[in-house]
Amino acid sequence: MRAVRLHEHGDADVLQVDEIDRPEPAANELVVEVAAAGVNPVDTYFRDGSYEPVDVPFTPGVDVSGVVTAVGDAVDGFAEGDRVYGTGIGNGGFQGSYAEYATIPTDRVVHLPDGTDLTEAGGAGVVAVTAWRALIDHAGLEPAEYCLIHGGSGGVGHTAVQIGAAVNARVITTAAEEYHDALADYGAETVLDYGRDDLADAVLAASDGGVDAVLDHRLDDYLQFDADVAATGARVVGIGENSPDPGFTNDGAARSKDVSYQFMSMFNTPDLRVPLRGVAHLMNTGALSIDVARTYDLEEAADAQRAVMDESFLGKLVIEP
Ligand SMILES: NC(=O)c1ccc[n+]([C@@H]2O[C@H](COP(=O)([O-])OP(=O)(O)OC[C@H]3O[C@@H](n4cnc5c(N)ncnc54)[C@H](OP(=O)(O)O)[C@@H]3O)[C@@H](O)[C@H]2O)c1
Repeated sequence: MRAVRLHEHGDADVLQVDEIDRPEPAANELVVEVAAAGVNPVDTYFRDGSYEPVDVPFTPGVDVSGVVTAVGDAVDGFAEGDRVYGTGIGNGGFQGSYAEYATIPTDRVVHLPDGTDLTEAGGAGVVAVTAWRALIDHAGLEPAEYCLIHGGSGGVGHTAVQIGAAVNARVITTAAEEYHDALADYGAETVLDYGRDDLADAVLAASDGGVDAVLDHRLDDYLQFDADVAATGARVVGIGENSPDPGFTNDGAARSKDVSYQFMSMFNTPDLRVPLRGVAHLMNTGALSIDVARTYDLEEAADAQRAVMDESFLGKLVIEP
């Protein structure tokens, strides 16, 4: 089969397509004929070695959708021909999904309802599970609460907007102007340009004086901002930053409003099948779409990884082997 592999850590140019043997499943694994593999920032961290150095040669790709072609000896509940999707985040040991066939343990994969699109599902794993964990599990978002989602056009952002809308929260999100109409269609009540000088005032005006929950993927930019726009008792969930030293200039703003900060990594999810099933249900009922901005073939994996870090798009980039 064809698989994208890196033989040394480095920039995107280290990715090449190799002809290798089709994988065999371990006892608790499925082999999946890959329909689609989401391209995530974390794939680039595995590639460049900044996240967690991996043994090479290594195939990137943690998100997968497709059809089961083989099941391990100890597998229960899956059979050849099943349509599945999942996320092997935290791996290093499985056959990655930038390939014609991937392996995934059964605790990281679920069945896909018949009407659910395989290409969308291949891009759903990391981003939608992260949004679900942040808003449902950590923020405990409730109907009619104000929820601020920074960067609503991103992979995580556009799923978070829809999950927030699905629980009938009042979603405020930020994005470049060109994505405002689409994000309103996805259920955002207010969409604001993240570049505007009066962003805090605009968020306060849109939320009757303060938001109840925040999803923040750029803590170095917004840690203080989140406290400034928080309502009393707000919950802020932090999932990322661009520089490693986010800090407050006035932590009193957070203290005076009893703001809770929860930092999370989706690979700590106790049982990934729970949010994966929740996301599958929302996709099946039409409450959640994965907006596939661009698709790439295996030979274009380097372009896809450059684009996910450097280019602007709405939704997800997906590799279709
Ligand atoms: N902790 C976890 O478990 C976890 C899980 C998933 C992802 N993450 C992290 O979360 C981040 C987002 O991931 P992703 O897959 O959603 O990436 P993505 O698809 O590249 O989205 C990033 C978004 O940030 C927006 N953005 C750029 N500058 C901004 C600003 N100043 N204010 C607000 N938004 C801004 C971008 O908009 P433009 O297109 O307009 O530039 C884009 O929509 C990454 O750092 C990733 O590593 C963490």
